[in-house]
Amino acid sequence: MRRQFDYNLLSPGGVLRKNPETPNFSPYVADQMFSKARHRAKADNPWRLYDPFAGNGVGLSTVQALHSHEVAYLYGSDISGAAVETARRNLEIVSNPAALNARARQLDTQYRLDSGYRRERRSGARGPETKATHADMARALGRIIHTAEFEPAPYHVFQANAFHAEHAMAQTGGGIDLIFTDPPYSHESRLVDGKGRDIQCEAVSDILSGLRPLLSPDGRVCVMFELGVPLCFKDFDVVCQAEIGKRAGYLLAPR
Ligand SMILES: C[S@@+](CC[C@H](N)C(=O)[O-])C[C@H]1O[C@@H](n2cnc3c(N)ncnc32)[C@H](O)[C@@H]1O
Repeated sequence: MRRQFDYNLLSPGGVLRKNPETPNFSPYVADQMFSKARHRAKADNPWRLYDPFAGNGVGLSTVQALHSHEVAYLYGSDISGAAVETARRNLEIVSNPAALNARARQLDTQYRLDSGYRRERRSGARGPETKATHADMARALGRIIHTAEFEPAPYHVFQANAFHAEHAMAQTGGGIDLIFTDPPYSHESRLVDGKGRDIQCEAVSDILSGLRPLLSPDGRVCVMFELGVPLCFKDFDVVCQAEIGKRAGYLLAPR
């Protein structure tokens, strides 16, 4: 299924909602990195997965849509309440056929209103309804993912600062098999110390070290970051590294 999958169906700002403040994330990158992490797993038990920078929930929604049978539970958090709400709604869209149908109807209405559909109909012109719309994409997504075999993983999205791992521990109970995340980074404007050293990368390393107690004994971390930006991982070894589009993906094992 995945080889032919049209990743536009899971891009934020289409079928999935997009919070205006939250950067886009690529469902293709999420799918590729999840598959790589899964390929290297020691056992094939379904995973408890946690994204501490959930944003629009594209990473989580991609895993739910394309890998739900490999996941026991999906957790996500974000410091932004608006992002948490968006991630929750997006997960609902991919998890629940009724929610996806409702989203298709809503996109239909929005499209007709936005494009002056009514005026087109009155004049008898071939209106914009003949073009592919986000509503059509929602229905296409439903046909692909909501098959008879589809069993959505349960999920929980909450507001938390990733620097405070105790909040995530309280919400998830730990035992996370995969921390799967795309931390924020600005290429144009880096946070540096007095010597010009990039300390934003160190912050990512500190956050991951703080989250380490959440991991199960064989737990792994998958970080997707801007390509070409060096990262250091104080308490983790890099198991594998990949370039996917404009992203670098790292699979990490605790030392
Ligand atoms: C690059 S976006 C993540 C996009 C996400 N991968 C997706 O699928 O949509 C980074 C997110 O990190 C969040 N963030 C920034 N600082 C944070 C912090 N200290 N703790 C938790 N989330 C934070 C931002 O609100 C933003 O939503």
